[in-house]
Amino acid sequence: MKFFKLKERLTPEEKAKRDVILQKVKDYRARGCRVPSPKLIKTEAQIEGIRRSAEVNTGVLDMVASQIHAGMTTAEIDKLVYDYTVGHGAVPAPLNYEGFPKSVCTSVNEEVCHGIPSEKVVLREGDIVNVDVSTILDGYYSDASRMFMIGEVSPEKKRLVETARQCLEVGFRAARPWGFLGDIGAAVQECAEKHGYSVVREYGGHGVGLEFHEDPFVSHVGRRGTDMLLVPGMVFTIEPMINMGKRKIYVDAGNGWTVLTDDGKPSAQWEYTVLITDSGAEIITG
Ligand code: MF3
Ligand code: CO
Repeated sequence: MKFFKLKERLTPEEKAKRDVILQKVKDYRARGCRVPSPKLIKTEAQIEGIRRSAEVNTGVLDMVASQIHAGMTTAEIDKLVYDYTVGHGAVPAPLNYEGFPKSVCTSVNEEVCHGIPSEKVVLREGDIVNVDVSTILDGYYSDASRMFMIGEVSPEKKRLVETARQCLEVGFRAARPWGFLGDIGAAVQECAEKHGYSVVREYGGHGVGLEFHEDPFVSHVGRRGTDMLLVPGMVFTIEPMINMGKRKIYVDAGNGWTVLTDDGKPSAQWEYTVLITDSGAEIITG
């Protein structure tokens, strides 16, 4: 838990604007809506801090994109991420997070998420790999991931990767102030299921910014007009995990981290950190 002094940081103009928003939130709550706590509605100063963190985070992903290749181990990706992040005055958020041993998650083929970089995992032509990067800069957190296709991949895997990307896009486009989290989940779910894929439910997006994982849980399935109200100043991730086969997953008992598809079929994931603005939503890192 961090202490922060809201009042001291707000100009009279920002304070007035925030009060209007908080009053509107109260009105929604009185009507029975699930609403975010004030802590989840970031101030301009906090958003600035998150943006700076996100700049490094996107830089890491761009650097990985330029370096990733067949024959490389996922441990090499981890080293690239660590060196770049530290070189930019930041800290990789996954490192030692709840005992996670590396600086980045690398999830290959049937690995859904939270894959641990290793010297033993060599990327091969035809692999699809998610690289999930999270950064802390000056105490502010950001989080995004991309898929990479190594050399020629099968048309089936390519379609999965591209559809997963589309699922994130439609989810992002459904995010708007005074809408609901369920709008995002519904859009993602429809996109995935229309293509014959399934959506992982046990893991989802999350609030982010002052901590790595804040409320709310961002489900990638849902119904429109349900779940938490979306309010300007909220910052959270959208990170759908889309399975080619069944949605069932399990956690590797050997390392306690890596999530895999139960049927062994491939899974794909893309992730943005998004900010709800006064008029829509903005990608902070992706
Ligand atoms: N973006 C991932 C998440 O929010 C990053 C996990 S890092 C780990 O779950 F350390 F928890 F693995
Ligand atoms: Co995340």
